[in-house]
Amino acid sequence: MKDNKIQLLAAPLQGVTDNVWRTAQHEVFGGVDAYYAPFMRVEHGEVRRKDLRDVDPERNADITLIPQILACQPDHALMMVAALKNMGYSRVDINLGCPFPPIALHRKGSGMLAYPDLVKALFEALAAVDGVTYSVKMRLGWDRNDQWRDILPLMDILKPCHIAVHPRIGKQQYKGELDMEQFEALFAASTWPVVYNGSMRSVEDIENIIQRYPTLAAVMVGSGLAANPGMFAPNATPDDYRRFHDLLVEGYTAQLNGGEAQLVRHLQDIWQTFLPGTEHKLFKAIRKSRTLEQYEKAAAAALADVENALTAKPKEDSQNLLV
Ligand SMILES: Cc1cc2nc3c(=O)[nH]c(=O)nc-3n(C[C@H](O)[C@H](O)[C@H](O)COP(=O)(O)O)c2cc1C
Repeated sequence: MKDNKIQLLAAPLQGVTDNVWRTAQHEVFGGVDAYYAPFMRVEHGEVRRKDLRDVDPERNADITLIPQILACQPDHALMMVAALKNMGYSRVDINLGCPFPPIALHRKGSGMLAYPDLVKALFEALAAVDGVTYSVKMRLGWDRNDQWRDILPLMDILKPCHIAVHPRIGKQQYKGELDMEQFEALFAASTWPVVYNGSMRSVEDIENIIQRYPTLAAVMVGSGLAANPGMFAPNATPDDYRRFHDLLVEGYTAQLNGGEAQLVRHLQDIWQTFLPGTEHKLFKAIRKSRTLEQYEKAAAAALADVENALTAKPKEDSQNLLV
């Protein structure tokens, strides 16, 4: 993979790729050139503290982290950029891709792609901030696959270092075909570097994409890396997966303060994307555990079978977050 010298970017996955996951992935497996943080947002007139804590440089030591903002109101976006600048960040990613209806229907994320005037106002406000370079993460549109055509010219305002494209429309959520034809049209029309993002579940998938589009600036991998955080570490051993998991347990024990029940729930949530090939019985035991002790026993059994999990096909009920 390294021979290709293409940048490998870790996509943001809300609820999965937080600082605990990122630093564990980096420490145990590595291979990622930069991690994109799940979006931060303004709520009740201030930047969510939880979001700020997640991008705190102290919690992201030794990794390259690009924070991401989600907003349609310029004043909200500026508030987040100011907070990030205060923390020492000079690179910020803008989310124009989130398809989650409560967000998109408020004209945020991919919902904003149907409103070029709002995007223009947002970009104008952000471009006026000194000392920050932006990237954009977007879909092809909200409810039409050619809405990017109205958005692309607006990039001249923002001058992004790249545009990462997930070739679906927001209304598709994470289902349905990838629209490679429209992706190619966008790629050909863009004067800005383009990053491809979508459904790459193995190094082979990545290599195929690079071969097909050799002038891509980078590739960005989300669910595939959450499923197998050792994707870029060909010599990873079962012990590495155990160590990765131990670091998650340790990190969430330190950072979650809702007691054992919250900790167990969070660890169970991780298995919605982690090792989706885990045998059904082992996965069910994780889901049914109620105490940390039960969870750890169930997780240890699943991790003892990691080699099978990595080669098996994902089970139906362990892949509901996968795309
Ligand atoms: C559970 C989940 C959470 C996500 N959270 C974010 C997010 O915070 N910001 C963002 O730009 N994209 C988010 N995405 C989209 C991914 O970054 C990525 O674009 C998408 O999953 C397609 O890439 P993949 O096929 O490699 O996963 C999320 C996707 C999922 C499934």
